[in-house]
Amino acid sequence: MPAGESFYITTPIYYPSDVPHIGHGYTTVAVDTLSRWHRQAGDDTWMLTGTDEHGQKMLRAAAANGVTPQEWVDKLVGEAWFPLLETLDVANDDFIRTTQERHEKNVQVFFQRLYDRGYIYAGEYEALYCVGCEEFKPDSEIVDGTGPFEGLKVCAIHSKPLELLQEKNYFFKLSEFQDRLLELYKTQPDFVRPDSARNEVISFVSQGLKDLSISRSTFDWGIPLPWDESHVIYVWVDALLNYATAVGYGSDEDTFQQRWPAYHVVGKDILRFHAVIWPALLMAAGLDVPKGVFAHGWLLVGGEKMSKSKLTGIAPTELTDVFGSDAYRYYFLSAIAFGQDGSFSWEDFAARYQSELANGFGNLASRTIAMIEKYFDGVVPEASEYTEQDLEVQKIVADAATAADAAVEHFRLDEAIDAIWTIVDRLNHYITENEPWALARDENQRARLSTVLYTCAEGLRALAVLLSPVMPQSTAKLWSALGVEESLGALASQPIRDAGTWGALSPGTHVSTLAPLFPRVEQTA
Ligand code: MSP
Repeated sequence: MPAGESFYITTPIYYPSDVPHIGHGYTTVAVDTLSRWHRQAGDDTWMLTGTDEHGQKMLRAAAANGVTPQEWVDKLVGEAWFPLLETLDVANDDFIRTTQERHEKNVQVFFQRLYDRGYIYAGEYEALYCVGCEEFKPDSEIVDGTGPFEGLKVCAIHSKPLELLQEKNYFFKLSEFQDRLLELYKTQPDFVRPDSARNEVISFVSQGLKDLSISRSTFDWGIPLPWDESHVIYVWVDALLNYATAVGYGSDEDTFQQRWPAYHVVGKDILRFHAVIWPALLMAAGLDVPKGVFAHGWLLVGGEKMSKSKLTGIAPTELTDVFGSDAYRYYFLSAIAFGQDGSFSWEDFAARYQSELANGFGNLASRTIAMIEKYFDGVVPEASEYTEQDLEVQKIVADAATAADAAVEHFRLDEAIDAIWTIVDRLNHYITENEPWALARDENQRARLSTVLYTCAEGLRALAVLLSPVMPQSTAKLWSALGVEESLGALASQPIRDAGTWGALSPGTHVSTLAPLFPRVEQTA
């Protein structure tokens, strides 16, 4: 990333009417890890998440529960969505709610601007709408219903009947942006990632674009159009604007200039809104398009996209209550190639927890600290002469740090973790090869024992720094056990791009006992 540039990254804003499940958690921890990495690298970082609170879905859910829509969303956001961030240990810089004044007012500013620039016109509309998707459905996503919905047209995603809407709408001239969008995908090949998502978007736009209905006049839970208050702004375009209003669009020009444009990380289900409609809206307003849109895959449970409506929804707390938030973060970010679908199973989660976290990283940390306590009274020894084998460990650490940073630059957290894990594997092997417990029995091997344990401890220092964006809690415990807070400062302030430079840990540092980072869990499932 060019120095001095701002790194502004967003999650989608979630519909609070659903309780959070591991799919929402997946996107959120990915974005949190990317932003923690950049923050720790010293980049001017800003992470935004939030909730999408208008629209018919919310209105109906509130009515069904006998409360006003505002009461309904306040309750859900307070009881379920803020706590999700704690559950997953997310360090977001801001949380936007689309019912906040800072958003509503400036969405109106934006649409007035589009209207004044001639990109909006009034027309009649008749089409099939899915309230679950909050979207008029294209023919490709309309299927014939079965069972209780026999004879009806249903949404291919929700399998629920579509509603025929006929009303006066305002339209955005999306069709005028086909060429400019294709040009954008060509000149900025990283605009949509990964390649599979880019190809899908290019092929969609190449087929031509229809104008987009951007207002609704049959209900009022939304933001009124400034020039015609009998309409509210279509919930999806209202929602997209959050990325701009949250950093001062319309109210704080300096902040907006500093932060905008953003990187957006989204699930592939909402790729077109972000990679087609959103840049077209920004172009129409004369604003910069996003730096990029990264679409990740779906979490599959039992081979299907996990979702609450299909009763495959799993709450993040079901996992974190047993395994902790670090294990959650590690598992989803390492086990799934970012950009592809991934299957979740409890067996796989529990197996990786045991083999990679408890036996791999956790055990390396515990035994290194324990041996320094036992053989050197808890004081990190000084390395004497480095052998070829030690130098090879140092090279693995340096290469892993470089490779991980390059992978994060490409949003490939799974590859970054793979690279970092070469250190865990190499050090565990190094201990087996060197048998420090045998060296300890021979007074003549004192110098060698010092080198071996220094190498392990310094490797752990690098691991703590590199893994802290992924697993903030266990790495903080390790940092404290290594006793380096005083000499090196807080873990979160360790420059991550220098993590692989050998020798930061000073001999003479006092370590302290480390309880198992990933304790054995009693499995009830
Ligand atoms: N409110 C809109 C987004 C507006 S953004 C301007 C919305 N909300 S949502 O609550 O349905 O969240 C969708 C997002 O949640 C997906 O894009 C993805 O990030 C995440 N996921 C929901 N289910 C998921 C899976 N089964 N697997 C992976 N991610 C999932 O759409």
